[in-house]
Amino acid sequence: MGLLDGKLIVLGVSGGIAAYRACELARLLGKDGARVQVVMTEAGAELVGPLSFQALTGRPVEVGRGGVTAAAGMAHIDLGRDADLILVAPATANTLAKIAAGMADNLLTSTILASTCPILLAPAMNTRMWQNRLTQANVSLLAQVERMVMVGPAEGELACGEQGPGRMEEPTVLWQAARACLSPKDLAGRRVVVTAGPTRERLDPVRFLSNRSSGKMGYALAAAAARRGADVKLISGPTALDFPWAVRTELVESAAQMARAVGRDAAKCDLLLMAAAVADYTPRKPAKQKIKKGDGGLGVDWKRTQDILAALGRKKNPALRVGFAAETGHPVEAAGKKLRAKKLAMVVANDVSLPDAGFGVDTNRVHLVTKDGSEELPLLSKDEVADLILSRVAKMLPARRARR
Ligand code: CTP
Repeated sequence: MGLLDGKLIVLGVSGGIAAYRACELARLLGKDGARVQVVMTEAGAELVGPLSFQALTGRPVEVGRGGVTAAAGMAHIDLGRDADLILVAPATANTLAKIAAGMADNLLTSTILASTCPILLAPAMNTRMWQNRLTQANVSLLAQVERMVMVGPAEGELACGEQGPGRMEEPTVLWQAARACLSPKDLAGRRVVVTAGPTRERLDPVRFLSNRSSGKMGYALAAAAARRGADVKLISGPTALDFPWAVRTELVESAAQMARAVGRDAAKCDLLLMAAAVADYTPRKPAKQKIKKGDGGLGVDWKRTQDILAALGRKKNPALRVGFAAETGHPVEAAGKKLRAKKLAMVVANDVSLPDAGFGVDTNRVHLVTKDGSEELPLLSKDEVADLILSRVAKMLPARRARR
């Protein structure tokens, strides 16, 4: 199950060297559940064989003026009407110019003209072609069309060996942009803070106390909130994950650092999603030198860390807060207690003793506990769980919370 399940995405491939990177994009979109119909220009098909795309998408590829699907009707009208999204990657200077001029001289440009869905354009060309005033005039014109969004170009080494803007954005970035295009925008204008991952409490210069949190649930929440239009700040403990797209990320290590970072951002946010597994205890006096082993045991004097969520609940006008409870038995009961004790809008509870839920895995099985009761979600990917949590929470936000 992917977030793009059942969506029809027309992947337009025009004639830039980056066409080979569109193969990876086709694979990512298909893996996320989309039906991908590749439409290539003649120049695109000279650079990468249509058969490669056909193998990756499981669908015949249209080239030039088309013909394969046209047999059943008028391909550009059918595709333009049925597509949920058109993604042109790479979009060459030539294809951008044609789209800006409203031309319809091949199946890709005529499908775009006959469409009403969102269109993502991923420009790729030599730097001087990109910076040319004529290209820039076309880009400005395209920016005026609300449903057309330009992603990139990135800066870097170009196929021609030159450096500068003109590189097609990474396939993973374009995939995330496609997901965002097809998401509801119910968090537009909201500021959201998400915490993720474990904290590390230092015992001495080489040792620390931590936990098994991978950060995956928090990162999925941050990415999902950004897709839904929020301005998102992610405050993350140490994880092995890539930073989510379109999210400002700050790295912290200890519970005290996380408390300070959240304190700075929470006053300005509408929603705080506290998915981090914050340590409840930290050594009272971390050793300045490495602790040497002795013959007996080792005693450490621990003190409680500040409970970040509970402390925020005592402030005036706190943001809407969601807590997370990792339990090893009776998750709903334990979550209900936390909901009331910390004055939360929702607690997301899971039983981490189950093999497919909780630490490190890509799936989760959770209960959403609110003052109105609890809702058990089936086993889902963490991306899907994140979207469901946000669907519920978006409805709980006050209609127009004044920005502070
Ligand atoms: N939390 C926090 N500050 C802490 C510790 C936890 O804000 N110092 C948050 C977590 O991010 C999470 C929720 O509180 O959202 C978890 O609640 P908590 O009562 O700390 O649960 P656990 O520590 O997991 O469980 P237990 O009650 O068994 O200690």
